[in-house]
Amino acid sequence: MNLAEKRVAVLGAGKMGGILVKAFLEKQLLSPALTTATVQHEERASALSKKLGIPVGTDNAAAAKDADIVFICVKPQAVAGVAEEIRSSARPEQLVISVAASVPTSQIENALGSKVPVVRAMPNTPCVIGLGMTALCKGQHAGTRELEIASALFAVVGRTVVVDEKHMDAVTGLSASGPAYIYIILESLAEAGVKVGLPRDVATLLAAQTTLGAAGVVLETGDHPALLKDAVTTPAGCTIDGILELEEGKLRVTLIKAVVKAAQRAKELAYSG
Ligand SMILES: NC(=O)c1ccc[n+]([C@@H]2O[C@H](COP(=O)([O-])OP(=O)(O)OC[C@H]3O[C@@H](n4cnc5c(N)ncnc54)[C@H](OP(=O)(O)O)[C@@H]3O)[C@@H](O)[C@H]2O)c1
Repeated sequence: MNLAEKRVAVLGAGKMGGILVKAFLEKQLLSPALTTATVQHEERASALSKKLGIPVGTDNAAAAKDADIVFICVKPQAVAGVAEEIRSSARPEQLVISVAASVPTSQIENALGSKVPVVRAMPNTPCVIGLGMTALCKGQHAGTRELEIASALFAVVGRTVVVDEKHMDAVTGLSASGPAYIYIILESLAEAGVKVGLPRDVATLLAAQTTLGAAGVVLETGDHPALLKDAVTTPAGCTIDGILELEEGKLRVTLIKAVVKAAQRAKELAYSG
């Protein structure tokens, strides 16, 4: 599968679409000569075109017309409209990949109107440094090959996992929103470091590298986080005192409730204003 020979259109190259198209071009997965993008505003289109070295316009139908792979990266409420704009050139040989939260593949398939393979992907912003997490699922006209193509694309910006579509809102609440939760935790740990006398830059470094290291150990060993936590917690030592504060402050239940709320919101986003 040589993706560099595919014509690709990225519709809605904002934060997420922009991260993806920039990475695909930088990693030479896609050819700049065969890649186009769109945004809503003319002035952003010309600035982005200069930055990425590809044509960027505001006409979705024109961008998608000859494309083999079409990324839909607009806000959830705009997805159906954009899919309808590209309906006239949509065909079963094309692959449409939507990164929009909340919007089911069936809604995109209906708007496209023909039996176009649709893959839904839920990436997160750490894709910007190649450490993203993307969950993928397929619509009714997509098969293993389309999932493989989409997985190969997202693999250049991090890890990928294939899930049933019924899990996509849960994924949104956990890994797509997750970086925001972790940034708040990091900010708080850095603030704590300042409180106990560390310079802010040192405190931020300690907090960030500790988070990265702990996550890396979970991924590399596959060990249960509770076991790894126990290995840090010496009887009558310092860590257990810290953990007692976390339990009293209901950190666990707060994080669980945050993911549940975000996943619930993901269920309704496509249908709200
Ligand atoms: N941000 C995340 O962490 C994240 C993670 C996973 C999934 N997503 C999904 O990614 C999608 C985009 O989110 P975002 O955070 O990247 O938002 P964003 O930065 O606002 O990007 C949206 C982009 O769509 C463009 N746009 C709006 N209407 C358009 C239209 N009719 N035709 C073509 N382009 C249009 C905007 O153009 P202008 O630049 O000209 O305004 C903007 O570039 C959402 O569906 C979201 O659920 C986001």
